[in-house]
Amino acid sequence: GEQDLLDRFQARIDAGEKIEPNDEMPEAYRKTLIRQMSQHAHSEIVGVYPEANWVTRAPTLRRKLQAMAKIQDEFGHGLYIYSAAETLGVSREEMVGQLLSGKAKYSSVFNYPTLNWADLAVIGWLGDGAAIMNQIPLCRCSYGPYARAMVLVCKEESFHQRQGYEAMVALMNGSPEQKAMGQDAVNRWWWPIMMMFGPHDADSPNTETGVKWKIKNFTNDELRQKFIKATVPQAKLIGIEIPDPDLRFNEETGDWEHGEIDWDEFWSVVKGQGPCNHDRITARRKAHAEGAWVLEAAQAYAAKQAARNAA
Ligand code: ACO
Repeated sequence: GEQDLLDRFQARIDAGEKIEPNDEMPEAYRKTLIRQMSQHAHSEIVGVYPEANWVTRAPTLRRKLQAMAKIQDEFGHGLYIYSAAETLGVSREEMVGQLLSGKAKYSSVFNYPTLNWADLAVIGWLGDGAAIMNQIPLCRCSYGPYARAMVLVCKEESFHQRQGYEAMVALMNGSPEQKAMGQDAVNRWWWPIMMMFGPHDADSPNTETGVKWKIKNFTNDELRQKFIKATVPQAKLIGIEIPDPDLRFNEETGDWEHGEIDWDEFWSVVKGQGPCNHDRITARRKAHAEGAWVLEAAQAYAAKQAARNAA
């Protein structure tokens, strides 16, 4: 019965086996994977909007090419993850419909404005840095199509992180105004990026089953900690001060202690009331409507081909 299936399934997970689309799986496993993967795909798609603002304003041709390449990668990641999610029996139309209707969640961090060029450097360095901290362990997650998709995604994402840090290094080696821009952008993005990792473990309803089924290999707090550890020396090297007066290294535990995250702000952004939630969804709806003719043309062409082949 049901319990037998759960036990058999757990034994496969514990043995480190990959679960493939046609394998037997508990309904709750399928559901939570669709939930996480669709939110992840939406995040990749919506994540281009804060950057798009700066493509036409990039300071040099080289920076502009980097920004365009990165945006193209991210759309690709979104489509790749939607396809991996479709192997679980949900359609792309359904997932995209949930995003357009405002029902679906996507990463809170993309609902903040990009006010100047330094924001793009910080999004690459810290935003993509936080994203890969979370995604590298997903290359080893239990669901085969998701794990395999993450390999390519992480390679590209780590390039994004490096280009962001390199742009940051350039700013921090620049004029006093440029240094101030860099610091100001970190001041504005640090806390939204801390929030990317999600609520504390004690307040994270999905962590227990996520870890049990190896959909998550680390908890939200563990990943946040790993991220702070990796980031502090990078910040120090370029003369950036992390805007958290309570950040301090605990010699006994070997961990960084950080100031309290503003969870009211976090939940208000997750629920749609962040500074840019409305703009992001509006931009996405507009792009969807304006691109509809491409889909219609492709469908008309496919129908014609099929009719020709049948004749
Ligand atoms: N922004 C928006 N929603 C969030 C965030 C966030 N930063 N963090 C948590 N939430 C949501 C969860 O989706 C969940 O909502 P739901 O139950 O309605 O689906 C709720 O808050 C409670 O959180 P958790 O129980 O901790 O959820 P979960 O175990 O799924 O952990 C996490 C959240 C860490 C984001 C996980 O889903 C994950 O690892 N996802 C894959 C990676 C990913 O999506 N990254 C997106 C940003 S990176 C990028 O795309 C460039």
